[in-house]
Amino acid sequence: MSDLTSVPGTQPLLQPVQLGALKLPNRVVMAPMTRCRADNEELAPTDLHATYYAQRAGAGLIIGEGAWVSTDAIGFINVPGIYTDAQTAGWAKVTEAVHSAGGMIVSQLGHAGAASHPDHHGGRLPAGPSAINPHEMSFTPDGPKDSLTPRALSAAEIATTIGTYRQAAVNALRAGFDGLEIHAQVSHLVAQFLNPRLNQRTDAYGSSSEKRAQFLFDVVDAVSSVWGSDRIGIKSPPTGITGLPSPQIPRRWPSTTSSSSASTTATWPTSTSSARNPTRELTTPSPHSPATAPTTTAPSSPTSASHKRAATRSSNGNWPTRSPSAPPSSPIQTSSIDSPTAALSPPTTATRTSRVARRDTRTTPQ
Ligand SMILES: Cc1cc2nc3c(=O)[nH]c(=O)nc-3n(C[C@H](O)[C@H](O)[C@H](O)COP(=O)(O)O)c2cc1C
Repeated sequence: MSDLTSVPGTQPLLQPVQLGALKLPNRVVMAPMTRCRADNEELAPTDLHATYYAQRAGAGLIIGEGAWVSTDAIGFINVPGIYTDAQTAGWAKVTEAVHSAGGMIVSQLGHAGAASHPDHHGGRLPAGPSAINPHEMSFTPDGPKDSLTPRALSAAEIATTIGTYRQAAVNALRAGFDGLEIHAQVSHLVAQFLNPRLNQRTDAYGSSSEKRAQFLFDVVDAVSSVWGSDRIGIKSPPTGITGLPSPQIPRRWPSTTSSSSASTTATWPTSTSSARNPTRELTTPSPHSPATAPTTTAPSSPTSASHKRAATRSSNGNWPTRSPSAPPSSPIQTSSIDSPTAALSPPTTATRTSRVARRDTRTTPQ
């Protein structure tokens, strides 16, 4: 794909586009695709990952394969994580290779939730919003196994889980990614929270569509506290899990645009606020902070453009603040942009529901 950028500039797909803070050289966005190649004890990306992604750096943007935010998030074999130093260092090699080849790459943060199996958790049941079997399939070291009835996450566990997303966002920043995508589709934990069949909670995270979306909102707040709001996207499908209709994501803030779709596939904010300061964030109390101070350290000598940008912003003292009632910036769809005109006109909303192929959950984690 790396020769795409050399094609003469009449093809709309090959025109540049601004996506939040990212200026993409073309509109080809590579979908996140799990390859199950982290076949090592650490679940760390390997040199093969770096080669694979660098080979695809001609795309305007690469969405990295879903990466687990914690050990509790695991639901499939050989899928890399982004919660340890070794994993972060492995991803740093990937981003370095992609940047060296002229590309951009964002990290997709994933959590399998109930769509997992005790074999991934030392015999302990995985947890979801409620104790309801999602009837998914989990690939374990012994092969594919049916999901079981999970534990329901306690309120404290939900707070801890949100903290793991935040720490993963810190690690993604340290690894030199250009942005983040929250995996909120099909069988993943965010989609489980959004799904009225699987989420029967009666607390702040269930019983209405607004409350079912609270987990996603909290995750967005947590990762935005690390990255700012203009490099974060959400992948949410027009179809729900196990064939149910799409989980509707309610609008959290008053609308500032004339159109929106509750079932967009991927939305990206376009806020101009881009302050990111992981060092400061590590010392700033947050409702989503893990109970103990994060111990992850930055991979050795950051050299990527992202690292340099982050360092610059660290020194200017800016920090993104947002009142809960403030309107969000308008979302832009990242994948499958089919209207170059709309996509070229931020901050108006450019969303559409894309065709999403029905997946075979028995062969591929998504
Ligand atoms: C091998 C494979 C692995 C995939 N892994 C992921 C993944 O890690 N995260 C994700 O959000 N989607 C994943 N997907 C789904 C794709 O990103 C994409 O949404 C899907 O293929 C439908 O594409 P379409 O919307 O262009 O039809 C995967 C798809 C395939 C075929």
